[in-house]
Amino acid sequence: MTVRFSSMSAIEILDSRSRPTLRVQGTLPDGRTVRAGVPSGASTGAREAVELRDHDVSRYSGQGVQQAVAHVNGPIAEALTGRSFSSLDQVDDTLRALDGTANKSRLGANAIVGASIAAAQAFALEAEQSLWRWLTPDGVIPRLPVPHFNVVNGGMHAANELDFQEFMIAPIGAPSLPEAIRAGVEVYQRLRALLAERGFETGLGDEGGFAPEIARPEDVLALLVQAIEDAGYTTGRDGVAIALDPASSEFHRDGRYLVGGESLSSEDMIDRYAEMIDKFPVWSIEDGLGETDTAGWQKLTQTLGERVQLVGDDNFVTNPGLIAEAVAAGIGNAALIKVNQVGTVSETLEALRVCRESRYAAMISHRSGETDDTFIADLAVGSGCGQLKSGAPARGERVAKYNRLLEIAASGPAHPFGLAD
Ligand code: PGA
Ligand code: ZN
Repeated sequence: MTVRFSSMSAIEILDSRSRPTLRVQGTLPDGRTVRAGVPSGASTGAREAVELRDHDVSRYSGQGVQQAVAHVNGPIAEALTGRSFSSLDQVDDTLRALDGTANKSRLGANAIVGASIAAAQAFALEAEQSLWRWLTPDGVIPRLPVPHFNVVNGGMHAANELDFQEFMIAPIGAPSLPEAIRAGVEVYQRLRALLAERGFETGLGDEGGFAPEIARPEDVLALLVQAIEDAGYTTGRDGVAIALDPASSEFHRDGRYLVGGESLSSEDMIDRYAEMIDKFPVWSIEDGLGETDTAGWQKLTQTLGERVQLVGDDNFVTNPGLIAEAVAAGIGNAALIKVNQVGTVSETLEALRVCRESRYAAMISHRSGETDDTFIADLAVGSGCGQLKSGAPARGERVAKYNRLLEIAASGPAHPFGLAD
């Protein structure tokens, strides 16, 4: 089976934060089309593949992506059309060679990832398979993931005083995907009422979670527990658990962590997390320490790695080589997976393979700037990793992913649901 594009092109569209991004469209010889909307992060890791912005301050405050669009319409289209590709690896190798840099900064990871996602879809079409099925590696059982709903937003994703970026509810104990979605919504609605009753604002952050003026992470955790219980669910892994993404690189300065007005060492942070785990049903902590705090991460993993999932995001940046190094160094026990962080679908699949072989868990993730593209829902199912974070169960670009999961769940065959074994 081969893929041949008769054309490939891009236009500048808007993401959910009203910043320009790309939509890439490919056409197959029989006229069928595939498209990809490119996401964009705000709290990015230093070693992420580089998103190309125009830096022309007269347009969109310099955030335009006309150069990246021109790279798709020019060199990328030229390299990908009019020839047959026998694998996605071959497409992605072509894109990488054309770019020629280690971090995809010449053509732009935003241009490259759009072309790569469109190519993956083209392969699925030619194989007459659902995208999730085509993305399932040999020997992996597709699985409907536990949705991780980001219901309280802070950090770079909201203008409030909360330093921790994400407070997620994870209905791990739900009997099925639809019931997990329902639990997420019912807790989210209950949380809105609770915040209003207590006089907090119920405005939303970038990922659709509430953004109340609360400084102490523990105060948010207490509210979440209340909302889960009020909605009629048990807290913890048998019911609805909590996952955190403090995104602590963002408040890590000169070796100290600045949280809620306090200045903490790595050890203080680890103690603080240990207390949170004792007191609240926290099951997963992402970027608990900063991306440069290697010794801190090792200590964190030794201290808490048996009790909770410790997810590397800013430090791993979906890079298979960096994940393998982290495994060898005893850092974390899970990786966050974002396609645009590494820049191609095949490198993303390789990162997932490294996780499986190292017995690291993996969580597929959206970005804070999103479009209506639902590729990551299919990737979450096909990878069998059992976890997806796509923001709150609110706002079109977030619910698009959850709705795609519901569609896959309803389409049969019956997939297992829940965390991977
Ligand atoms: P970003 O944040 O998409 O703004 O980079 C998401 C995350 O830190 O997981
Ligand atoms: Zn993160």
